Amino acid sequence: MGKFVIEGGIPLEGTVKVSGSKNAALPIMAACLLTEGECHLKNIPHLADIQVMGKTLKELGVKVERKGEKLSVNAGHLTRYEASYELVRKMRASFLILGPLLARLSRARVPLPGGCNIGRRPIDLHLKGLNQMGAKIEIRHGYVEATARKGLQGTNIYFDFPSVGATENIILAGCLAKGTTIIENPSRTPEVLDMINFLKEMGVKINEKKANLIKIEGRGEILPANYSIIPDRIEAGTLLIAGVISKGKIIVEGGNPNHLGTFLVKLKEMGVKIEISDKAIRATRESNINPVRVKTLSYPGFSTDLQPQLSSLACLAKGKSIIEETIFENRFTHVPELRRMGAQIEEGNSRIIIEGVPSLSGTQVTAPDIRGGAALVLAGLAARGRSEVFEIHHIDRGYERLEEKLSNLGARIRRKED
Ligand code: UD1
Repeated sequence: MGKFVIEGGIPLEGTVKVSGSKNAALPIMAACLLTEGECHLKNIPHLADIQVMGKTLKELGVKVERKGEKLSVNAGHLTRYEASYELVRKMRASFLILGPLLARLSRARVPLPGGCNIGRRPIDLHLKGLNQMGAKIEIRHGYVEATARKGLQGTNIYFDFPSVGATENIILAGCLAKGTTIIENPSRTPEVLDMINFLKEMGVKINEKKANLIKIEGRGEILPANYSIIPDRIEAGTLLIAGVISKGKIIVEGGNPNHLGTFLVKLKEMGVKIEISDKAIRATRESNINPVRVKTLSYPGFSTDLQPQLSSLACLAKGKSIIEETIFENRFTHVPELRRMGAQIEEGNSRIIIEGVPSLSGTQVTAPDIRGGAALVLAGLAARGRSEVFEIHHIDRGYERLEEKLSNLGARIRRKED
């Protein structure tokens, strides 16, 4: 399992490079199921979740080979239409194979997904969309069994909520459907758009220019493509907070500042000096941290995936911050752990009220999930004394060599295996 041991209170300084985006790489790997040719992907981060997706594809008969940050994926000979519970339970994004598998083989059997412990995470929008495209869907023994004997048919699909995963699944299914699929109220995150750009490289005609609509022209054959994944905006945001919370001065390189708009606005409101120059973001803490009001929303609103990390920073603000979570129902699992470090936080009605304290104190805490775990590492960097963050396998799902990147900035953090 392993833990991080952190000696807090050291200001971080220097430059750190952002890795490729996990949440873009995963749907793009699933998209490789659409073609019989070999796709070559670059800037793939070394993460536990990427391994899980690789294994999930391999189980279906796909050849997946990794060399450094490159990945080749060849789905020329699919041997199975079923994914195993063992893998899908580990990561919700494995469910993204449903759309492309069904489109390619006219049938798919995928377990109901697992993933982070951040509340009820239904898949109704995925299933409703596929059903509208002509798939017959049954849920039996904890598996989604989908068949489309006559193939999938393009149609108009409206999402009540712009779900990231449902948008990706339906786009992937639409690529091999007959006719045109139109998604109204889709998610338009940078990761969804990255997958769309990959699909365009594969020869799929997609129009995503209209704000509230994505139009996919289905086609019979999809070509393999070479593609480089966008940088990880959530990792970039986490590293920027690491600099600020430790009272340091760091430059985050290789990220795309345009993907971090709302987040950077909030950091500035908190009194952080942000300088942007050609894909590098410099964050400097000038004095006290101001309290903040944040509400998580669909992109381009404030990302729920940066909410726990920003909460850690708000714990040290001068005054009262209010953070409201509207995307997931159980995304304050880091709060009891932050309290153990001396944070003053009240929780209720999908929001937390944080009364800033002058300092946090190091202690033992447990990572509840990927981003909540990252929030505890950040708190540990700022805290007085030694912190130990347990269950870091959660953090390894979403952060590549986090302790190495932070150590290179001067942090005293090490991994200790059990
Ligand atoms: C993706 C991201 C995750 C991020 C989330 C933000 C990946 C691999 N993961 O997750 O890091 O926090 O987007 O939106 O890209 N919902 C339904 N029915 C559905 C689908 C979703 O009610 O069929 C609800 C969920 O319960 C949740 C909300 O919509 O409350 C957001 O879910 P969704 O956007 O689908 O997130 P994911 O794709 O799971």
